[in-house]
Amino acid sequence: MHRFNEPVAMREVLREWRIARLRIAFVPTMGNLHEGHISLIERARGLADRVVASVFVNPTQFGPSEDYAAYPRTLERDAEFLRAAGTDVLFTPTIASIYPFGETEAWVDVPSLSGILCGAVRPGHFRGVATVVARLFNHVAPDVAVFGEKDFQQLLLIRRMTIDLGFPIEIVGAPTARDQDGLALSSRNQYLSVEERAQAGAIYRAITTVAGAVASGGAPFEHCEIARKALEEQGFVPDYVEVRSAQSLQLPGPHEQDLVVLAAARLGRARLIDNVRFTRP
Ligand code: PAF
Repeated sequence: MHRFNEPVAMREVLREWRIARLRIAFVPTMGNLHEGHISLIERARGLADRVVASVFVNPTQFGPSEDYAAYPRTLERDAEFLRAAGTDVLFTPTIASIYPFGETEAWVDVPSLSGILCGAVRPGHFRGVATVVARLFNHVAPDVAVFGEKDFQQLLLIRRMTIDLGFPIEIVGAPTARDQDGLALSSRNQYLSVEERAQAGAIYRAITTVAGAVASGGAPFEHCEIARKALEEQGFVPDYVEVRSAQSLQLPGPHEQDLVVLAAARLGRARLIDNVRFTRP
């Protein structure tokens, strides 16, 4: 596995691969890797001849009171995981190669997707995500990029940004990796205490119940309210539980069939997000 901090050196290797007509897949991460990330690498390997992964804790997607400073940084362990999973290039850009002037002036934003749901609770978060992913795409210029469906809002936003900006990159969503009790794997799960971890699977059970009820003809709002109250009773502080169009994340029309139930809730120090996509007959 090659390792690069500087994009110029990395581009030399990628250029050789392109000349050899090798297809390049890209998996951007913020590190502190777990099985969920490894499943993205495996998906990427099935889609291309070479896999590039990045580890970059992106400051612009954290709010002032969020966990940027405390975000777990485990680069050497991550590198071992990535090597074992068959990654060809690990790109660990310096802050200066992503934000040459420190503070950035040129932002990328997708307002219809960045201001709702998690974006309403974390102002500026998705603008930071879109901006860093656009810059990483410029450096890596992959044929295909893989993102986890756990971050469903992020996935849709990146798809839209990629089309709007004309990046010739296929965006692939990979299924959420889960623990045995259904809890979606996330680097932030380590903020949970032992007692909180025992409770945390309830978020997946709650949204699965909503999906089942709405798929059987139940009213989305009513079932989301039931789920929200149930989570509150179990010690969560929900930000939202919502059924939305899986295409646009807007409120679904009465005949819309491709739906997703999304939830975000705090449990102790951790903010958990999850979603279940389903079809209404
Ligand atoms: O999902 C993540 O880990 C991050 O939001 C991403 C896409 C790597 C951008 O920093």
